[in-house]
Formats: sequence, structure tokens, C-alpha cells
Amino acid sequence: MPRAELDKQPADVQRMFDAVARRYDLTNDVLSLGQDRRWRREVFDAVAPQRGDRVLDLAAGTGTSSTPFEEVGALVVPCDFSLGMLRVGKQARPTLPFTAGDATRLPFADDSFDAVTISFGLRNVVDPAAGLAEMRRVTRPGGHLVVCEFSHPTFPPFRTVYLEYLMKALPTIARAVSSAPDAYVYLAESIRAWPDQQGLADQLAAAGWRDVEWRNLSGGIVALHRATA
Ligand SMILES: C[S@@+](CC[C@H](N)C(=O)[O-])C[C@H]1O[C@@H](n2cnc3c(N)ncnc32)[C@H](O)[C@@H]1O
Repeated sequence: MPRAELDKQPADVQRMFDAVARRYDLTNDVLSLGQDRRWRREVFDAVAPQRGDRVLDLAAGTGTSSTPFEEVGALVVPCDFSLGMLRVGKQARPTLPFTAGDATRLPFADDSFDAVTISFGLRNVVDPAAGLAEMRRVTRPGGHLVVCEFSHPTFPPFRTVYLEYLMKALPTIARAVSSAPDAYVYLAESIRAWPDQQGLADQLAAAGWRDVEWRNLSGGIVALHRATA
């Protein structure tokens, strides 16, 4: 199992998601106490897609994050590099055009999309700066990026409780409900190693995105960053 900070390799990340694919949606619901549904609604509102808009849902996994876009008639393309996740997704959501692709070398032409969104994926991309530059390349001028990612709770006492929850409870719960509990030890470590809200905003700007802004969800457990190409 990769350590979040030390030796994260694309093949390790790929294998890890192949292993959790089968029970991914259930485990998400249990671990986030159902909060992930609300976070997904917020992503949808931030993208604000129109019927016919071309939306890339990057690191889409099983397509949970893509479904709301399909429902309003957007042309959503779920893309991921874990064939295990794509396979489970295709079975559950056969109408979605699942596409295999690496976030750091996207299989799409320049300016292909009106919006790109990535939910709980950027933290796992081995070279996030390369991923952000690729997202910029495939978004048309004036199009938007919405990044939904775990972040740093803003209220210090809560931040402490949260880290205790992550470090201690999360692996125990995951052992009961997940097909690959070690992946959730990685989850806790990777959240701690991830930059805070301002740090991620700086990375977006460095990758060429403009008008970068963010809002906190659930007290900063999750942050939504939005930017323009
Ligand atoms: C936690 S899942 C998120 C899935 C979905 N977006 C959601 O919100 O439920 C993270 C996904 O990122 C994918 N991923 C990680 N690195 C990637 C990369 N370099 N290119 C494409 N997908 C990647 C993994 O395969 C995994 O399916």
C-alpha cells in the first residue's frame, strides 16, 4: 500500500482503486455519514451546467459524480485510469460514456469542454500540477473548473477532533465495511498531506487558471474551488 507522502506511484494508486471499486459507493456513504450526497449537489450547482454543455468529470471512478450532469442533459464524459472503477461504473450506469484516461495526459483535444470537474480525485493524482495544466488545456477559453476535495477544517478545536476521527476511527470503520481497508489508511494520510484552501488556490493559479475562488463545505472538511480558463 502506498504511503501518501513518500512513494505514491500511479500504478499503486490505480491498483488501490481497482481493489476498492466493488464497494466504493457504499463505503463512501457510510464514512461520510451521507454528507457526500450534499457535497455532490454543491459541485453540480457550482458547475451550473446547461443542457448540451460538454462536461469532463475527471477521476470519475464509478461515475457517482457524473450522474447529476447526465440527468440535466449535459454531455458528461466520466474519465478515470482505474479500469476496475470504470468496469463497476459501466455496470451500474450503462448510459454514461466511461473513458479510460490519465489526468496527467488526457486523451482529449485542446478546448474540448465547457467545464471540467474533479471530485475527490486531484489529491490522488501523482502530479497534481500536471493534472491542473491538462484540465486547463482541454477547457475552452471562458470555461470553468470545479475541484471538490477534502481540505482543512477552519475551526481549530474541530480540526483536532477531525484528525482524531480520521487517524483512529476511520481505519476501524473501513475494516468493517470496505473490501480494501488499507486504502482508507491511505485516505486519512493523504488528507493530512494535502494543502489547505489557500495552498490549493495557489496551485490552480500557477497552472494558468484565473479568478480562483473557494467555499468551505461542512466547516472545511471539504472545499470547492472554482476557476475560469
Ligand atoms: C476517490 S475516487 C473519486 C471518484 C468520483 N469522482 C467520486 O466523487 O466518487 C478517486 C479516483 O481518482 C482516480 N485517479 C487517481 N489518479 C488518477 C489519474 N492520474 N488519472 C485518472 N484518474 C485518476 C482513481 O482511479 C479513483 O477512481
